[in-house]
This record gives sequence, C-alpha cells and structure tokens, in this order.
Amino acid sequence: RRRCARTSAGRFVYEANVSMSLSTLGLVLGVFEKEGEEDGLHLTEAAAGFDQTLSGKLSELLKISGPALKQGKSRVFYGIHKDFPCVAVVGLGKNNEGVCGKENWDTSKENIRQAVSAGCRLLQDLEVNHVEVDACGDAQSAAEGAALGLFHYDQLKSKKKTKVTTQLHGSADSASWEKGVAYAEGQNLARLLMEAPANHITPTAFANTIEEKLGPHAERVTINKRSQSWIEEQQMGAFLSVSRGSEEPPVFLELHYNGSPDSKQAPLLLVGKGITFDSGGISLKPSPSMDAMRADMGGAATVCASIVTAAALKLPVNIIGLAPLCENMPSGKATKPGDVVRAKNGKTIQVDNTDAEGRLVLADALCYGHTFNPRAIVNVATLTGAMDVALGSAATGVFTNSDWLWEQLHKASVVTGDRVWRMPLFQHYTRQVTDCQLADLNNIGKYSRSGGACTAAAFLREFVTAPHWAHLDIAGVMSNKDEVPYLRKGMSGRPTRTLVEFAAGLAHDS
Ligand code: BES
Ligand code: ZN
Ligand code: ZN
Repeated sequence: RRRCARTSAGRFVYEANVSMSLSTLGLVLGVFEKEGEEDGLHLTEAAAGFDQTLSGKLSELLKISGPALKQGKSRVFYGIHKDFPCVAVVGLGKNNEGVCGKENWDTSKENIRQAVSAGCRLLQDLEVNHVEVDACGDAQSAAEGAALGLFHYDQLKSKKKTKVTTQLHGSADSASWEKGVAYAEGQNLARLLMEAPANHITPTAFANTIEEKLGPHAERVTINKRSQSWIEEQQMGAFLSVSRGSEEPPVFLELHYNGSPDSKQAPLLLVGKGITFDSGGISLKPSPSMDAMRADMGGAATVCASIVTAAALKLPVNIIGLAPLCENMPSGKATKPGDVVRAKNGKTIQVDNTDAEGRLVLADALCYGHTFNPRAIVNVATLTGAMDVALGSAATGVFTNSDWLWEQLHKASVVTGDRVWRMPLFQHYTRQVTDCQLADLNNIGKYSRSGGACTAAAFLREFVTAPHWAHLDIAGVMSNKDEVPYLRKGMSGRPTRTLVEFAAGLAHDS
C-alpha cells in the first residue's frame, strides 16, 4: 500500500511540475579522464560544485554506473537534483591537451564541442526543453558545441524535434559563452541557407534573407541587391553566361559592414560563389546526388553569414561582401560548350564545360571587388569535385599568393577546429587554362580531370592583381555525414567560424 501511495504521489508531483513550468530542465556536466589512472575521473569545476551540493552523490553514481567515461561518451542520471530532473555527464578526454601540431587544431576545444553537443542532443531526445551547460573550462567552445549540436533543419517538416534553449550553468565567463553562441549561430545561418531547397532559396530569396538578418545592424551596414540590368552595365559577361539558361533572375549582392572606428580603413573583401542550384547546364550533371547542388551557394552563404556574425559581434573592422547569385540551368537560351564569353576585365573565356560555372561568376566578382582597394581578398566557393577527392572533408583547401594571408587563415582555423590546408598555385596549372583554341582562357584545364582543384584556382588567379588574395575551395567540406561529430548529417556551413575568427584577427591587427 505504502509503495503504491508513494508512486501515485510521486507521479502527481511530477505532473504538477510539468504543467506549472511547461518545460523540463536539464544539465550537461563534464568530466576529464584522470592522468595516469586507468579508471579515474576528474570533475570540472562546475561538476565538482554540483557534486558537493549533493554530498558526493554524483561521483558515487559515476563510479557505480559503469567504466570511467571516455572522451565523447555520456551518461544520463535522473532525479538526482530537485532543479534538474535530467543530468547528462559527458567525457572530455584528458585535461590540458591544447593545440596539437599534427592535427592542426586545439584538441581540448574540439573535445569540449563534441562532448557538449553529445550531451545536449541526448537531453533533446529525452524532450528536455531547457539545458544548462557546464563551461568545461572554455565557455566559447561549450556554447559552440551546444548550438551547433542542436541545430537541425526541420522547417519544412510537420513533425519537429523538441526545441531546446540553452544557457551557461553558473556565472563563469558569460562573455565567452555569448561569443560562442554568436559564432555557432553564424554557422547555423549558413547551414540553413545551404540545406534549404533551391525552390525556396532562389537568388532573390537568398538576398532578402541576408537583408533581413542584417536589419538589426542597419547603422553599420549598407546592402545593395543589384539586378540583371546593373550586372549588364558592369559588363559581367562571364556571370551572365551562367545565369542565362535560368528563368530565375540573377542578383549581385553587395554588403558593406563598417565596423572600424576608422571609416577609411581599407576593407577586407569576401567573395562567395552563389549558385543556388547547379544542374551543370548543358554539360548536365548525372541525376544521383544532383540534389546536393542546392548547396552550391555555400561560398555565398558562409561569406554572408560571417558578415552577419561580424556585425552581431560589432567587430572593429571594415568588410565588404560580394555574392554573385544565380542558377546554372540548361535551356534553349543556355550557354553551349565551345561558346566564348567576355569577362568584366575584357578577358575572353571559352566555355568548354558549362558545369565549370563557379569560376565564371567569381571571375567577374573578383574584377569588381578590386575597385574597393581591399587590404585582402578572400573568395570562398564549392568550386570543384576534385577538391573533395584531394582532402575530403578534413579541411578547406586554400590557394593563396600571400604567406601573410595564409598565416592568418591557418591561425584562425586552429582555434575553430574548422581546418584549412594550403594548396599550390604553380604556373604548371596556369599553362593548362591559358592554352586555349578560341579565347584567352579555357574554363577547364586541358587535362580535364588531373589536378582539377588546382587548375580552377589557376583560372581564378587570372582575375586577381591584388597582392593578398586567397581562394578557399569548400567543395569537400560542403556536407557532413558523421565526420564532424558536433554537426548533424546535412550541409555543414563550414568554414563560417574560421572566417569570423580570421576577420576578428584582422580587427586586432589594425
Ligand atoms: N559545384 C560543382 C563542384 C562540386 C562538386 C561541389 C561536388 C560540391 C560537390 C562545380 O560547379 C563543378 O561542377 N565543377 C566541375 C568542374 C569540371 C567540369 C572541370 C567538377 O568538379 O566536376
Ligand atoms: Zn558546376
Ligand atoms: Zn558549381
């Protein structure tokens, strides 16, 4: 009888709580592996504090519930604390791992992102609505893990995952937490734009979305959504040759973020490939996986999202963002293999493969970008399948004429864990695109498949005169299966956080 009464009383209390607050609270706490001890654990500061309020109950439960938590593993405890019905404890690996010279990233930060994301997702699956998160010694990485790990594109589904809000547990370093949230939200904006279907994110819809996101920062931002007639006036013949097969009008999006106290400070120029759907055009792609080409605006998405983030963080730097946005479609009006077009700088291009369209839209955007006398130019593009063959999803390929710029990008990527790797810009590749039958340049290398990422970079270089330019080929990192554990399956939004960290570094430099 007694047991029965207790159960029904317990259930009553539980239901009363739920209907009063309409939300379940959860907590994510970290534990390190103890150096030199096979089965030892070492609680983070927050976990130790929590353990103390429970007179050591947490450490006791951790001991009896199984082997010591290894890095990336997690365990949930129910009903151990009156404020937190669900507590997820996550393994952070060894304490003080820091930067790893072989992996080119900060292992401690990566472990925190991974563990916190796993803990938050576990609680989300249990329909917990609000999660407090242990800073784990690095509140920015913890925030990134939480916000990146919970993101899931289900806008177009009737049945959605539980919406989870997060907050830092305790008061430690809330500024770093907020910074981490901003970085992650930037990447999540890029993920949203990339994942969304191409009939929803048209060039016009893309530009409108970015305009809306920049709305709150209007006093530091100007936006120009240039239409077809402006593009024609600018004589961007290469860009127009890609757009002409589509019924959807092209947009040339131009963003100016003026964050520097010195309004005359030379801007950082970011240029993103904005093909909202790449069918290949007349050089039509095969059907399997063609749907992934809705993310062929990943360059534009990561560039624009990083400018939205720079504005949200009020970074003291001037940035100009350019995104040539259009579809690449086959039709009676489409560009045909062998056609010759004229870029903004007067160079003629023989378009032997209409599927090598990214370099065409970027050529005109790069020419236009030089008119702002930028201190550095960084273009970002899902440019070649060959980049994916070369590095897979481990790192973005960087082709640059500047050791200084390479250093800045590399340094930023070690912090974010969204890595870059340097690739060559040899004359060897230039010869393969300048040897052309009808025009100054051919849009494909003459040994077509060999070194495809490098010949594409060599092509872009023909439209660059600035001393500090980098081309980031993000085709390999465009989507995630399960390689990056704190990103769910889907379009990745990489390397938005690296771009933001890089811009923040330049702000420091000036
Ligand atoms: N958008 C593609 C590259 C791509 C492929 C990005 C797979 C992400 C995943 C690009 O426009 C393209 O089709 N490039 C061609 C170039 C070739 C025709 C020289 C390619 O890589 O096959
Ligand atoms: Zn293509
Ligand atoms: Zn493309």
